[in-house]
Amino acid sequence: MKAYKNVHVLDHPLICHKVAILRDKNTGTKQFRELIEEITTLLTFESFKEVPTKTVIVSTPLEDCEQKTVDGEVAIVPILRAGLGMVSGVHTLFPTAKVGHIGMYRDEQTLQPQEYYCKLPEGIENMQVILLDPMLATGGSACDAIDLLKKRGCKKIKLMNIIGAPEGAQKVAASHPDVDVYIATLDRCLNENGYILPGLGDAGDRLFGTK
Ligand code: PRP
Ligand code: URA
Repeated sequence: MKAYKNVHVLDHPLICHKVAILRDKNTGTKQFRELIEEITTLLTFESFKEVPTKTVIVSTPLEDCEQKTVDGEVAIVPILRAGLGMVSGVHTLFPTAKVGHIGMYRDEQTLQPQEYYCKLPEGIENMQVILLDPMLATGGSACDAIDLLKKRGCKKIKLMNIIGAPEGAQKVAASHPDVDVYIATLDRCLNENGYILPGLGDAGDRLFGTK
């Protein structure tokens, strides 16, 4: 895949180790949920490396000092359903982050995303927005969700995925060069049904035990 400045593939050994267990068809719902959460925390840590900061004065037991802190509010927006599994992973690092929800499913025939729900926190246009979805396949759902956030005035958006296909990463990178995309692992391709290969199957079904 062509390199895009706004696509960051982590491929860190600790993340790869967790992804290996996540992919395994014998991994059960409980462990799958825990791994999604842990990998998301690691993605959050990496993606906030270059976030705006402000300096505050802190009084330690010994003296006052200047200390850098994250500037501004954070909003988490999972794409339903599977993105829900990633929310607690971000909350581990940003416990006060507000949560919005965008409901989308892919039409099984056309693979086009269908929006069915949207509820976003008031004032989201001034927040640092983290859009969550474990799977970036064709990129249709992510692009539509980013369009929706931009229509609501959001200017600082990051997208986080656990597994991405080159097709989806290219689509988001080209359509939204201002959005930084953090992907734990980039896979080979999509199959004829739009599933990521080797992937992990249907993330929503594995998270919620629906199949
Ligand atoms: C999955 C996944 C993404 C979308 C990715 O959701 O969680 O939202 O497919 O595919 P795309 O990049 O080709 O748009 P799905 O439509 O299966 O809905 P679900 O989470 O409710 O199961
Ligand atoms: N959605 C999933 O859950 N898995 C895929 O491989 C593609 C889309």
